[in-house]
Amino acid sequence: MEYAVETFDLTKVFESKEGGVKRIIKAVDHVNIKVRRGEFFGLLGPNGAGKTTLIKMLCTIILPTKGTAKVNGYDIIREPMKVRSCLGWFHGETGGRSLYWRLSAEDNLRFYAYLQNVPKDIAERRIEALLEFFGLTKDKKKLVKDYSTGMKVRVMLARALLHNPPILFMDEPTIGLDTISAVETRRLLKALNTELGKTIIFTSHNMFEVEQLCERIVMMKDGRVIADAPPSVLREMLRDVRAVEVEIRENGDLSRAIQALSSLSIVRRVVEVKSESLSAIVRLQVDDEYEAIPAIAGRLHNLGIKVSAIRRSEPTLEDIFVKLTREESA
Ligand SMILES: Nc1ncnc2c1ncn2[C@@H]1O[C@H](COP(=O)(O)OP(=O)(O)OP(=O)(O)O)[C@@H](O)[C@H]1O
Ligand SMILES: [Mg+2]
Repeated sequence: MEYAVETFDLTKVFESKEGGVKRIIKAVDHVNIKVRRGEFFGLLGPNGAGKTTLIKMLCTIILPTKGTAKVNGYDIIREPMKVRSCLGWFHGETGGRSLYWRLSAEDNLRFYAYLQNVPKDIAERRIEALLEFFGLTKDKKKLVKDYSTGMKVRVMLARALLHNPPILFMDEPTIGLDTISAVETRRLLKALNTELGKTIIFTSHNMFEVEQLCERIVMMKDGRVIADAPPSVLREMLRDVRAVEVEIRENGDLSRAIQALSSLSIVRRVVEVKSESLSAIVRLQVDDEYEAIPAIAGRLHNLGIKVSAIRRSEPTLEDIFVKLTREESA
């Protein structure tokens, strides 16, 4: 069977210089994945895991250091133009910035169709259909600068589909969207997959949307694949996770607080620390959240560490990452 995407020891190493010291970063490290045609495939991992770098290699934006991949059967190194003709790429963070804000949505799409050498009559029909699919027909003549963020995202998605590619790389398409626009974007992605049969490679930090959309999930950390499973398996892994968040009022107390919390017997591990300008939040996995909360409050109080909140917290992707990486190194 030929896959939509298949990678062979795909590797990308970056060299950077920091203060005169050479650093080598293995952003993607011997990755072997297979994505079936028509699959809604999720790529997950903490910040810096290598997801965007992997996608950029598959989209022929950057070259691998080692290994290769096939996209729609074409080799990314030897046949980059053929690869490009088969894929649409969308990156949430650069999203609206790559549109011309002083042109209408329709004219933006015409311009990009021209750049992609889509014949004019086909382009006109396709643009009309895409504007309709993305609910933009009514506003198609409005300048993009007057669009909401959600609408700009929809124009960008339409742009990625102008040459009618079978495979779509969606790198955090819902980042920065409000709840309603995110719901709408998810609905459209699902429709692209189920109604138009597009293969979708999707990244996100939102556990809920990944679970809702993806048939299969690959998790990456430090450039490597650490899990490959359907979302239900990952959910099952979280069944016994109990978590608590502790808000430390003064950032300066953070390291003392982490030390004190780690030494409590009811605390399994510190999962994540979010340091803000004044305060900080420490996320912990615990044996029993209802016993942990008073124990944590008591310990920190005894040490004179001011706490503004302690609350129970739903399991997140971070919990899975921590669990998987600990199991791997165990
Ligand atoms: N052009 C570059 N030069 C040097 N290092 C880079 C470059 N691009 C990425 N990196 C590094 O490679 C690693 C992987 O980055 P990448 O952006 O692929 O991660 P990611 O999984 O997409 O993270 P995020 O969830 O934050 O988007 C990081 O350590 C990053 O700093
Ligand atoms: Mg990224």
